Amino acid sequence: MALPTPVLGSEPPLGLPTSLARLRDEFVGRFGGPVEGVRTFFSPGRVNMFGGHLDYNGGPVLPVAIDRGTFLAIRRAESKGRVRLATVFGNDVFEGAIDALPPTASGKWYDYPVGVIRALIASADGDSEDGPLEAGFDVLYGGNLPVGAGLSSSASITVGTAFALDCVFGLGLEPMDRVAAALDAERGYVGVQCGIMDPFAVGFAREKQVLWLDCKDESFEHLPLDFKKLSIGVMDTGVQRALARGEFNRRVAECKAAFEGLKHLEPGATVLRDIPLETVEAHASSLDPDVAKRALHVAREVKRTFRAREAFLAEDFIELGQAMTETHRSFQTHYECSCEELDVLVDAAVAQEGVFGSRLTGAGFGGCIVMLVAAGAEAEVSRVVANAFEARYGRRPPAAFFQGDAGPREVDCSA
Ligand code: GLA
Repeated sequence: MALPTPVLGSEPPLGLPTSLARLRDEFVGRFGGPVEGVRTFFSPGRVNMFGGHLDYNGGPVLPVAIDRGTFLAIRRAESKGRVRLATVFGNDVFEGAIDALPPTASGKWYDYPVGVIRALIASADGDSEDGPLEAGFDVLYGGNLPVGAGLSSSASITVGTAFALDCVFGLGLEPMDRVAAALDAERGYVGVQCGIMDPFAVGFAREKQVLWLDCKDESFEHLPLDFKKLSIGVMDTGVQRALARGEFNRRVAECKAAFEGLKHLEPGATVLRDIPLETVEAHASSLDPDVAKRALHVAREVKRTFRAREAFLAEDFIELGQAMTETHRSFQTHYECSCEELDVLVDAAVAQEGVFGSRLTGAGFGGCIVMLVAAGAEAEVSRVVANAFEARYGRRPPAAFFQGDAGPREVDCSA
């Protein structure tokens, strides 16, 4: 029987070894065979704090991996050459031959792992006649990350799949190869023209640290965050927009149009991030009005994200929070990727003592907000913000607080 999809909640999670031991038992129940040989993995989700919609424009971003994510139980099929992919959250099971995976996506959840498997096969060097995964394998997916809430359940599953297959088959991948396979799956197979931030945030995560990533040259740096002073809070509107994927791809296209319209003004520019704000402001009227708004958001957000980096390094949480809330205002007026429920949560959050700033996280159009909260104020903030939301919508939005997660890993649940 399928389980309900996860929600953020106040109840303490079971702990990874216990959760993964349950998944492993469920795996044996579904696929049969002995429990020996079943390996279990965790792969985190992420919250993006700064650099909203900048990754596909070559700008800087500052995400953090979180300790909620995808659980995987996996076992080699020993030369049967078959792949079976199942989830505890639904009844759709994928089954196919490893050398004849479907060339086009199905619209089902398993497009993400199938896309990764195809990418890994395609990128493997052709030394042997058989592909690196030719034995085949079975995977059962579970997890504690809400899906479609802006916490990157997609990068969690794609990077996690690449990581688990790398371990089980000894593929010898570098973290960057796993990120590349995840991106290939999402862009080339699923068909979302996303940037590099999410798989990077998951694939290069470090405990109690955030990631500073420059999406133009892919240089990155881990920055420590003192969680004794600052908490990263997330609240979920519960709104899932069916149109989100189309709207996201439209924003990507609008930014491309902005770059095409402005690049002649900045010799050497290769991405929209390279066009200075002054240039965008001076020439905005030459662009389609929507395209101009997107370009203004991007140029200001680039500046704001560098400002946030300085504030972050100086532990100036007031300045940091202001930058975050300004991003949300720009999402409302210029990027048009917010929605009423997100605005209600952000407005309630920033009016509350102990909250330095707040914005929607992820692509927007629904999903979660992120809040920077003074350590110690978490319970009061989530109570008051949930009250404001409940007064309007008659339901309480779930909340959770996170610290930087260590990234994809095998978890021994036999102990
Ligand atoms: C989604 C995409 C990311 C990024 C964010 C917006 O999460 O997958 O690549 O563009 O939206 O910042």
